[in-house]
Amino acid sequence: MAEKTVTIERHITEKQKQHPQATGTLTALLYDMALAAKMIASQVRHAGLIDILGAAEGRNVYGEQQQKLDVYADSVIFKLNDHTHRLCAMVSEERDEIIEIPRKYGKGRYVLLYDPLDGSSNIDLNVSIGTIFSIHRKVSTGGDGTLEDILQPGSRLVAAGYVLYGSSTMMVYTTEQGGVHGFTLEPSIGEFLLSHEDIRIPSRATYYSTNQGYEKAWTHGVRRFTKWLQGIDGEGHPSLGLRYTGSLVADFHRTLLRGGVFYYPGDMQQPEGKMRLMVEAQAIAFIARHAGGYASDGYGDILEIKPHKLHQRTPLFVGSRDLVVQAEHFIRQHDQDWLKQYLPYREGRQDAP
Ligand code: AHG
Ligand code: MN
Ligand code: MN
Repeated sequence: MAEKTVTIERHITEKQKQHPQATGTLTALLYDMALAAKMIASQVRHAGLIDILGAAEGRNVYGEQQQKLDVYADSVIFKLNDHTHRLCAMVSEERDEIIEIPRKYGKGRYVLLYDPLDGSSNIDLNVSIGTIFSIHRKVSTGGDGTLEDILQPGSRLVAAGYVLYGSSTMMVYTTEQGGVHGFTLEPSIGEFLLSHEDIRIPSRATYYSTNQGYEKAWTHGVRRFTKWLQGIDGEGHPSLGLRYTGSLVADFHRTLLRGGVFYYPGDMQQPEGKMRLMVEAQAIAFIARHAGGYASDGYGDILEIKPHKLHQRTPLFVGSRDLVVQAEHFIRQHDQDWLKQYLPYREGRQDAP
């Protein structure tokens, strides 16, 4: 139990006061993301009931308004942010193109990127799901947000965070000033309260987290890395336990709090992997860096990748720094064939094969 009671609103405001040049726009944007989280959390808590009640009554309790959770989450975030004059564009995993700010509203200095509902395959299974978001500063001239504003390396992020709809709802965020802070939703009062101040990823690893069902398709380096984590290959690395939910937010959150590594590698069939660089990997990598961890695509730092398209994918290894660096060693040593396939994609010289 934290010593003092601090709401997320107060925490964000206090942090802003430490930067006299801040205008309050980012503060308001972060606070709106906390509000979006509460709205989505409330719907997530009804997810199982919607079908049960609907079946009993022969119609859906929410009538026309019932939507799939990921569509609902997407529209909650959009509607909270389209009219605030803070953004010049948005990007959502659920939409193919840049989301423009409607003409009738003023444009702002930031772009918001989000994965409204992460872990969709777990929605109907009562397994934790999440939301991921990140914020870039506008860099182009003119009022409208452009691809130039979106396709920035993660190292230039202003802020990033995620929400985990688990046994409780948590929001974790960081800004360019550093510090990763976690808040737990107290549902009876509807407030996020500071529960995890200044999170640092433990140097001692507890778990590795990956979909090992895909091992058949993995490269030699990734297999060797896994054997090393299991303490089978190499000089006696202590065996790590395995945990995997299939929701990046949940798997990363555990990795952040307990130490270890999460990976979703590229393979010879899909060298670019599965994770989305702009709406998933950059945010997660930024948070990891600020918690003393590291995120790599197996070749180098995720945050240094210069993106070339909106829905670019990337392999992802994230967690305790030494483990991720070890993954890079194994890949450099064993996976030159894969690197030949992947690097032209990473550098934007070639689309996915
Ligand atoms: P999303 O639900 O936003 O499409 O993301 C799903 C992602 C991620 O959350 C998770 O780590 C991964 O897909 C799971 O993929 P597998 O089912 O292939 O393991
Ligand atoms: Mn996702
Ligand atoms: Mn999603």
